[in-house]
Amino acid sequence: MAIKAEHVATSRAAEARRREQAQYWVYLDGEIKRYGDARLGIMTHALHYGTGVFEGLRGYWNPEHEQLFILKLREHYVRMQQSVKVIKLKIPISLDELCQVTIELVRRNGFRQDVYIRPLAFKSSEEIGVRLHNLKDSFAIYLTPYGDYVDVERGIRCMVSSWRRIDDTAAPPRAKITGIYVNSALAKTEALENGFDEAIMLTNDGHVCEGSAENLFIVRDGRVFTPPGTDNILEGITRLLLIELMRKELGLDVVERSIDRSELYVADEVFLCGTGAQVSPVVDVDRRVIGSGRPGPTVAGLQKIYFDIVRGRNERYRDWLTPVY
Ligand SMILES: Cc1ncc(COP(=O)(O)O)c(C=O)c1O
Repeated sequence: MAIKAEHVATSRAAEARRREQAQYWVYLDGEIKRYGDARLGIMTHALHYGTGVFEGLRGYWNPEHEQLFILKLREHYVRMQQSVKVIKLKIPISLDELCQVTIELVRRNGFRQDVYIRPLAFKSSEEIGVRLHNLKDSFAIYLTPYGDYVDVERGIRCMVSSWRRIDDTAAPPRAKITGIYVNSALAKTEALENGFDEAIMLTNDGHVCEGSAENLFIVRDGRVFTPPGTDNILEGITRLLLIELMRKELGLDVVERSIDRSELYVADEVFLCGTGAQVSPVVDVDRRVIGSGRPGPTVAGLQKIYFDIVRGRNERYRDWLTPVY
């Protein structure tokens, strides 16, 4: 069978990437080793039952200072400590040690570009049986160079997913549990396969919840609204810092309250946020143009402040950042 040149080029690129990745330094159960040497068995509990908890952090490279800044390092590990409690996982090192190990690992990799950091705590016993107790716990950190997760300039097009957000009474989205991300994956793939960029999920009772991996804000008549923590959102770290910035820097009234689906259509602005998505304007929901169809003034203003801060260009918010080098 003839193999297309395009396919050969893609698989060569994938192979080169795999080889490069194998050389990254990772942390696994107290040791720093090469990704290629950090092996797990196929019977690993978390792989079968979703019994893991993860975090996602960004490090932003500042070329003028030749510095890599990790955004809200401690806050991510505080949330992780809360998440692990929910599914009876134990991380064997303290909050200070988690921060220290992360800095050391980033340093060891020596990246001089933006990175994404992925801590993962998981049930690592290699045995059959769905439960949370009497299992071995493991802890790992992986990191990789990383750019934009979704478009942050042009604005993205979203659909309201036919998949509802999982409820706290079924599996709590407040905790960043690996298994729960099947819910997000169903919604995201449905959106992409239907020609949209991202999904917005509703709660079981029909209120707007969040994107597949982002929290959501709307702007109506100069006021900003975002779903409360009790509407099955992940209590995002970006969400919290944007609320602070909108209040302090833009003098806006930000209210946490449930949002109806139709409010998305009539809003002046809609935007998503998250460590991966950063601050991402939404210009269309369910084929209804939002505002002027271009990123609105609130989100544009917020993006400017946000990107200055995360790259270490705003001294007043330096304490949000941890320098690595
Ligand atoms: C479901 C979900 N909601 C919201 C967020 C945004 O959270 P954060 O700003 O802490 O990255 C994420 C990303 O981690 C997520 O996965």
